[in-house]
Amino acid sequence: MSKNKIKISASVMCFDWKNVEPQLEKLVRGGIDYLHFDLIDGVFAPDFGIGTSVINSIRENVQLPADYHLMVENPSRIFETLIIRNGDLVTVHQEACRNLHRDILELKRLGARVGVALNPATHIYSLDYIIEDLDHVLLMTVNPGFKGQSLVEQTIPKINNVKSLLETFNSQASIGVDGNVSLANIPRMVAGGANHLVGGSSGLFVGNQDLTISLARFQEAINAAIR
Ligand code: DX5
Ligand code: ZN
Repeated sequence: MSKNKIKISASVMCFDWKNVEPQLEKLVRGGIDYLHFDLIDGVFAPDFGIGTSVINSIRENVQLPADYHLMVENPSRIFETLIIRNGDLVTVHQEACRNLHRDILELKRLGARVGVALNPATHIYSLDYIIEDLDHVLLMTVNPGFKGQSLVEQTIPKINNVKSLLETFNSQASIGVDGNVSLANIPRMVAGGANHLVGGSSGLFVGNQDLTISLARFQEAINAAIR
């Protein structure tokens, strides 16, 4: 899967929870790049994500890198509860941090690669003073909290705006998109410059479709978009 530069994260929140083990096996076999763990506190975003006990038990059984997405108010409170291994990515929301720069440095100290996520309504210029410290920018293409939402259309041109911003700062940070990353939306997202896609209920965990087939179709949509 890493033959091209587009990374894929599988959104654990969208798992079929009756079949966790076979799904993990299929994701590993299919060459997925990361497991995307949504942590939601019911305050910053509605609903609740997956708790650290579930996350840690998955992590103890699978060696895939983690892509933690912290939809949590004042997230530095929970940094120490995360298992952070070499290569793991931790993304905090710009809107949720009281001291964003300090939080980024703390995550680096804990050994993480660091991302900042922006909600659909948050301007990309809020990244200006921290961009040089970032490994990843995560653009929310839906409002955070729930799976299966419709795309917020205005976020599509935003992807290319972030790409230009990164180029201005000569930053190598990756550009992630999260929310309604469907086969229909992948071409526009990739054309805009997204190079890290979160596969959720719209693109990877689609109804009763076999995950191996979904993953192959997801990868094929990426390949077609970069050809
Ligand atoms: C949304 C979460 C996503 C979720 C989206 O708040 O952050 O990670 O998995 O997946 P879709 O939109 O495809 O259901
Ligand atoms: Zn997410």
